[in-house]
Parts: sequence; structure tokens; C-alpha cells
Amino acid sequence: MNIVILAAGTGKRMRSALPKVLHPLAGRPLLAHVIDTARTLEPTRLVVVIGYGADLVREAVAAPDVQFAVQEQQLGTGHAVQQALPLLDPSVPTLVLYGDVPLTRASTLRRLTDGAGQHGYGVLTVTLDNPTGYGRIVRNAAGKVERIVEQKDATPAQQQICEINTGIVVMPTARLDAWLGALKNDNSQGEFYLTDVVELAIEAGLEIVTAQPDEEWETLGVNSKQQLAELERIHQRNVADALLVAGVTLADPARIDVRGSLECGRDVSIDVNCVFEGRVVLADNVSIGPNCVIRNATIGAGTRVDAYTHIEGAEVGAHAVLGPYARLRPGATLADEVHIGNFVEVKNAVIGRGSKANHLSYVGDSDVGTRVNIGAGTITCNYDGANKFRTVIEDDVFVGSDTQLVAPVRVGRGATIAAGTTVWKDVEEGVLVLNDKTQTGKQGYVRPTKKKG
Ligand code: UD1
Ligand code: CA
Repeated sequence: MNIVILAAGTGKRMRSALPKVLHPLAGRPLLAHVIDTARTLEPTRLVVVIGYGADLVREAVAAPDVQFAVQEQQLGTGHAVQQALPLLDPSVPTLVLYGDVPLTRASTLRRLTDGAGQHGYGVLTVTLDNPTGYGRIVRNAAGKVERIVEQKDATPAQQQICEINTGIVVMPTARLDAWLGALKNDNSQGEFYLTDVVELAIEAGLEIVTAQPDEEWETLGVNSKQQLAELERIHQRNVADALLVAGVTLADPARIDVRGSLECGRDVSIDVNCVFEGRVVLADNVSIGPNCVIRNATIGAGTRVDAYTHIEGAEVGAHAVLGPYARLRPGATLADEVHIGNFVEVKNAVIGRGSKANHLSYVGDSDVGTRVNIGAGTITCNYDGANKFRTVIEDDVFVGSDTQLVAPVRVGRGATIAAGTTVWKDVEEGVLVLNDKTQTGKQGYVRPTKKKG
């Protein structure tokens, strides 16, 4: 089957410079969701009709299996499909999808295409309580579809019809050239309507078959920011339901946002207001506290992530404890049983099993061994303003509070660094290192008092 996705419209009501189909749903362009669904049907040709913001749209979804047809002027849905015709395989049917209708399920589309078969004409319809704005499905006394009439062209009696055209159709491709060429734009909008092809197909002796989606939201389109927000909530609720079905505990299924893929093991629990982006994997028994943001990360079994923790591009082992208020940046690789506490930032650093940095530290461009204790306020000074350097801290080192490690520097196994030390030379194994400092106490010091003005 060929699949044509219509995506040439401006989307005026979005009130945005961004083409409508590029507005994100769950962190990805609307059009990308439609292309994903299309791919699951394994089309022989996949063509996106672009027009408004064509270059931006093309760049956003370019892929080897996607072809583009440019519709210079948006003269209607029939005219849009006509632009794609030269790229289609005439020997298989053509399914038309909309770039701004992102939540249609493949199972629904399959029902439509199966119903129409290789040579039939199928329309996906749905019955709405309030059909205002949509094209209406006009049936004859025998219940057969006769035509589709747009809201703006409908008689008052036709406006009472609640069965509407979702816009999604499947048609025999070989006949499209003649049918689309015969369309007229003598209607209230002066457009070449794809919906008018229905009458031409009936004249040619075809019967119009219809199919319905499992859920009404599958056919909802985005025309405004309100509708975009509604669809985002529907999508997120679906994702949350799937997690619940898979056995994940969610403190509130209405307060989780997944913008990408979230894979969970057994007995994972997620508190409120967490955002997951990119590809996130949580192993068995992971618990995520409230208000965490986790992007492209793997978290090992039994690890506890406390509130307000931020993780990006990191790998965390099993039985680790992170946060509250921890920050793991790209390249943070934590072994099992590592503890990273409040206001500790870890970037491009490997931290060995059982090591701890519990308070107010920066560990960047570092290799930290096992069972290392990093005291409060420790900073790896990795940057001289031009270049970055590595800090190596071997196993069983004790780093006293408020230490600065001026990289490149190596601290040998088992060494002890006294509180407040600036380490700018390598430290041998097992030694105690400290800076010479003196502490003086002065008697009789009087604090200044505030002058009265
Ligand atoms: C269309 C249908 C209507 C249906 C409704 C469902 C027609 C004539 N009407 O109406 O029966 O109930 O969808 O939402 O088909 N587009 C182009 N090029 C164009 C015109 C449109 O690419 O020249 C694209 C738009 O970007 C959009 C889609 O086609 O993705 C639908 O166009 P729109 O103008 O919104 O059609 P409706 O008037 O809503
Ligand atoms: Ca529309």
C-alpha cells in the first residue's frame, strides 16, 4: 500500500511561526507520530505532502523511506493528494493520513484497509455528539454512503448528521489520476475537495465501505494550542495506563510525562510530577521520588532516586541512592551502591562501587575508585579556561570536606586528604595530605557596630 500524509497546511490558529505539523506532542513533532504509525503498516511508498514551511518540515522528518511532494499552493485536500500521485505505486491502494492527526492506531487503519481490500474505497468515519465543523457522511435509504458534504456546504438537514468524515481514506491508486483530475472547486471554500472523489467512485461502480476507530480520540486533529494540549493529555494518560497495566506503581497517573520511551522492570514505583525524556530504562525495584527529570538514562535494580533529582545521559548501577537534588550529567557512570546526595553534580565521571559524595560537590572528568568518600564541598577543578583535565581518585581514598583537586591530578589508593586542602600535585598511596596553614586566635577583638545615621 502507498501512504500519503497531508501536511501542507499553515495551521493559522496555532498562532505560531512553526508549521503546525512540527509542534511537539510528547516531545516529538506531530508529523513524526503519524510517520511512526504509517511505518508499522509497512507501506511500499510513504509520501508526505508539504507546503507551508516545506524546508523545515522536510528537515525535521527526513529519512530514507520518506518521500516528499511539494504543494506550492494549498488548493484543497484533493489537490494535495494529486501532488503525490507521481510518486505512488499504481498497483496498490493509497491510504491518506493527516499530519495533524497524531493518535490514530495502526489497528484502526488496518481495519479500514482490510475492509476496502485491494480495489475498494474505504472511509474512516466516527459518530460524534457534536459534529460541527466536519464533513458529514450522507447515506441513502439502504444505508449506503452516497457522498460527503462539508460543513460549509451542508443543508440544515445534512448538518443534523452525526456521522462524520475523519478525513482518513483508502482508495484504488490506478483510478486516482482520472478522479482527482475531474475534481471541481465550485464549493463554498473554492477548494478541490478529496471528499468529492467519493461520488466519482460511486459513479464508477464502487461501493464505499466505512470503518470506525476503537476510540474517538484516535481521529482528533490539532488546529489550536487548546487541541494540542488536550491531545497531549490523552496521549500521556494512555502511556500512564500502559505503565499501570505493566505493573508499574504511579502515585498519580495524571502527573507523569513520558516524552520518549520508558522501560520499567518489576515493582518500579514513580512518584508525582516526573518527566522522562528520550530512552529511559528503570530496572526492577527502582523507586523515583517526586519532581525528577530523567533523560536518556539507565538505572539499575533497587536504586532509589529521591526528589528533585536531574539525570541526563547517565548510567547508574544497582542499589544506588541519588538525591534529593542530585544532578547527573552526560557521561556520569555510577557503579552499584554509589550515593550521590544533595547539590552534588557529576559529569563525565566514572564512580566505583560503594563510593559516596553526599553533599554540595562537583565531580567532573574524573575516575573515582571504590569505597571513596568525597566530603562536602569538594570540587574537581577540571577546567583552566581553555582545556579540561582528568582527576583520578583511587580506591579507599578519603577526601576531606572543602577540598579542591586541581586536575590533572592523581590521588593514590588509601590516601587521606585533610579538610580544606588544595591538591595540585599527585598524592602517593596511603599518605595524609594537607596544606600548611596556621590558625591564630586574637584576644580582645571587637566587632564593628552599625553606625547610626
Ligand atoms: C477535512 C475534510 C472533512 C473532514 C475533516 C476532518 C475535505 C474537503 N474535508 O476538512 O470532510 O471532516 O478534514 O478533520 O477533505 N491540507 C493540505 N493541502 C491543502 C489542504 C489541506 O495539505 O491544500 C492538509 C492540511 O494541512 C491538514 C489536512 O490536509 O493536515 C486537512 O485539511 P483541512 O483544511 O484542515 O481540512 P478540513 O477543512 O478540516
Ligand atoms: Ca482540519
